[in-house]
Amino acid sequence: MTDIKKISATDFGDDFLWGVAISAAQNEGAYNIGGRGLSVWDVFSKRQGKIKSGAKPFESCDFYHRYKDDLLLVKVLGFKVFRFSIAWSRILPDGTGNINKEGIAFYHRLIDECLKLDLIPYITLYHWDLPYALEKEGGWTSHKIIKWFSRFTTICANEYGTKVKNWIILNEPMGFTSLGYMIGKHAPGKLGLDNFLPAVHNAAMVQAEGGRIIRNLVANSNIGTSFSCSEVIPYSTNRKDIEAANRVDILMNRLFIEPSLGLGYPDDGFALMDKLHLHNKAWKYTKQMQFDFDFIGLQNYFPVTIKYNPVIPVIQASEVKAAKRRVPHTGMGWEINPDSFYRMIKRFSEYDGVKKIIVTENGAFFKDKLVNGVVNDVERMDYFKKYISALLKAKKEAINVNGYFAWTLTDNFEWSEGYHASFGLVHVDFTTQLRTVKQSGHWFREFLSPSS
Ligand code: GAL
Repeated sequence: MTDIKKISATDFGDDFLWGVAISAAQNEGAYNIGGRGLSVWDVFSKRQGKIKSGAKPFESCDFYHRYKDDLLLVKVLGFKVFRFSIAWSRILPDGTGNINKEGIAFYHRLIDECLKLDLIPYITLYHWDLPYALEKEGGWTSHKIIKWFSRFTTICANEYGTKVKNWIILNEPMGFTSLGYMIGKHAPGKLGLDNFLPAVHNAAMVQAEGGRIIRNLVANSNIGTSFSCSEVIPYSTNRKDIEAANRVDILMNRLFIEPSLGLGYPDDGFALMDKLHLHNKAWKYTKQMQFDFDFIGLQNYFPVTIKYNPVIPVIQASEVKAAKRRVPHTGMGWEINPDSFYRMIKRFSEYDGVKKIIVTENGAFFKDKLVNGVVNDVERMDYFKKYISALLKAKKEAINVNGYFAWTLTDNFEWSEGYHASFGLVHVDFTTQLRTVKQSGHWFREFLSPSS
């Protein structure tokens, strides 16, 4: 691998997009301010034991009020792109029905501020914060979500489309359908295949429909959608482990990209996929699930090692955690493996129909310590250096990867982990809202705009 000491952003070429990403539910706070309706996360966080330490996303790092200061940080750190999401329940407090003018105005102010600072905005339309009113109607399990989402998308495109050209339709559909509708770890906390199978199909439909709407309404648009991916490594060469890894691979890496490319759902003899087809009569929708995205947003944090486990329903597989295998891992327990990141970029680029890849998220949580105004987050810095070196390897091999957005700007509400799992380049004191740039943030600043 390239010597990490020697790389600089210029090695990636002038048109490479360096950005940083946040999301509405994790950063904005102001949950009952400016006419915003409740999201599934507001309600879910009130359920006993769902979020670590009973944390709530109500205030978070208060991006709603502090966006100007935070955008200045983005600028100072040297990023060109700012990726954020629009809270559906700020635009449409009930998910459908009346438009909230204050919500519309907020994103205009945010976009205008980006443009003033010469930051390129990338809008994510859906980053997991479904309006609670829609969840009461079935949320992602209801086919009506296609109609609901289309209206939301149309409003956003008409409002912001002259100013913003870069759009990401969904953030990690596998993330919110599996965690939210299969295992109940995330909002809205639903469980089982009866929820998961329709949620998957509706999300696959929405991701394409959203793309079509933006294409029709926004001139010169650049449209993508963001997929999570994790290399799946079999625990042994035993046939059962290999087959188990293949089942997990279908779910983690193929379930959403393949329908978007017009390939329909992956099959490969996994019984769950037959159920998915049958449940949704999916063969009828192959065309509708396809959309010609301008770029694919790839989000990678870690690989997984998988072994056969007959007691796990449906998938009959379980993960052998990094700690157990005694390999380096982050505070989340996620294996640190930059070579695997490289392999996933390469693999996704090999699909016919993937025109361009942007890494729309990558980053790490390690326990931070603020000592005398300094967060010396050596491990996070090291993580970024290694992953960015792996990215450079891909770039040098002429793989069409054209951008990298770090996750994330400031410490924020990390879903069911609450506030303890800090991923930010900027430390936040959640009592005073004081921001302190971590050493990893300083490293980015130097990497992106070297002083010498
Ligand atoms: C992603 C998600 C982000 C962030 C990140 C770190 O899956 O899109 O919102 O939470 O993981 O866990």
